[in-house]
Amino acid sequence: MSRTFPDRFLWGAATAAYQVEGSPLADGAGASIWHRFTHDPRLMIASGDTGDVACDHYNRMEGDVELMKQLGLQAYRFSISWSRILPEGTGRVNQAGLDFYRRLVDRLNDAGIVPLPTLYHWDLPAALDDRGGWLNRDVAEWFGEYAAVMYRALDGEVRRWATLNEPWVVADGGYLNGVLAPGHRSIFECAIASRNLMRAHGRAVQAYRETGRHEVGVVFNIEPKYPASDRPEDVAAAARADAYMNRQYADPALLGACPPELRDVYGEAWEDWSADDLALACQPVDFVGINYYTRSVVRASESAWPLRAEAVVQEGAQHTETGWEVFPPAMTRTLLWFRERYGEIPLYIMENGAAFADPASSADGPIADEDRCRYLAAHIGAVHDAIAAGVDVRGYMVWSLFDNLEWALGYAKRFGIVHVDYDTLARTPKKSADLYRRIVESNGAAIGDVSSSASKISGAG
Ligand code: FCB
Repeated sequence: MSRTFPDRFLWGAATAAYQVEGSPLADGAGASIWHRFTHDPRLMIASGDTGDVACDHYNRMEGDVELMKQLGLQAYRFSISWSRILPEGTGRVNQAGLDFYRRLVDRLNDAGIVPLPTLYHWDLPAALDDRGGWLNRDVAEWFGEYAAVMYRALDGEVRRWATLNEPWVVADGGYLNGVLAPGHRSIFECAIASRNLMRAHGRAVQAYRETGRHEVGVVFNIEPKYPASDRPEDVAAAARADAYMNRQYADPALLGACPPELRDVYGEAWEDWSADDLALACQPVDFVGINYYTRSVVRASESAWPLRAEAVVQEGAQHTETGWEVFPPAMTRTLLWFRERYGEIPLYIMENGAAFADPASSADGPIADEDRCRYLAAHIGAVHDAIAAGVDVRGYMVWSLFDNLEWALGYAKRFGIVHVDYDTLARTPKKSADLYRRIVESNGAAIGDVSSSASKISGAG
């Protein structure tokens, strides 16, 4: 069956500032919490990796846009580093930081590649962390101020803005589990940060309605939770996990309410949101970005704090290098569920991809990352299934354009369709980049080229 996508479906690839740019303090930029996190001996990630050089995209941006053009990309999703723009987080604007993103956006537009910036992909200015960061209610105003600076500077050239990337990861990784910047471990803080993230999102949407002329949205990571059995305790455990990871953010933003299960999850750390906070979080958005990587199968477990739910590893299924089960049908289910719960909102897949141990390159061809080729083809097929069922999906961004700093996992986990040699910084497209170029060119049909081997992926077909 030939599977082509709607006309004007947008095909692109994604990165994030701290993961690819390098030169985090160049040209007057302030430090971010990620710069601090990777340099603080008490917090730093196991490998000792930092974003000091990363892919050196900050210095190689023009060549990188040229490469995107060769790969046939129609869109590039990137994030803006808040502390390059406002080194202290608020107040003084650093023109050199703005200039970098203006040049990037201009190069993209000249190349016919749609720029899709995200205002916050986890790198809060360290100066704002010193003032409480996501725990300070003023962060909503700070974020609104920064957002307005960006809209004023670039709304002529950018037509689609995203406020936050994956608020769940910011709160859970940064404030509950301490594995991501700023490395705190408190369930009370997790609840506060979650609320302030969504208030900040709302404030940035309001700011857009005051100054912007195009579209603004937000990006959520959605990981559907499948109960491990029909037992009521497993079903309830899956509902708690879903409320905590998925609905905790999408419900306030899109329905103006908090999922009732959160009270049970947070216990004494829970405080009902005021009507004002809910109203601030719930601003009409023009689109929602969805990042999908995997599902999780969940069973009740009294000892698993705080959810009283634990993931059940699916023996026999394929897993990526990050331990994520490969299960494409859950991507279709996610999209159907999203429309069912939140109504008709234009959706973009803003991230989807996989880390695999790529085979070594050989003299006679590109790195043959067959697993990644199969993963992408199967998941793009799953997006098509959702579109065929009537979901309004308007674009798909591969995570990631480049191998890059996978946060606390360092450089060892490679997600790129383009290989980066971290000694020479040479970029070399992998086989998946060639496949993706053909997918873009054929508006999806080329996924058929890999479908014969897709049966290797659990649940496909
Ligand atoms: C997502 C992040 C992105 C990348 C991928 C693998 O949660 O948004 O930066 O780390 O996971």
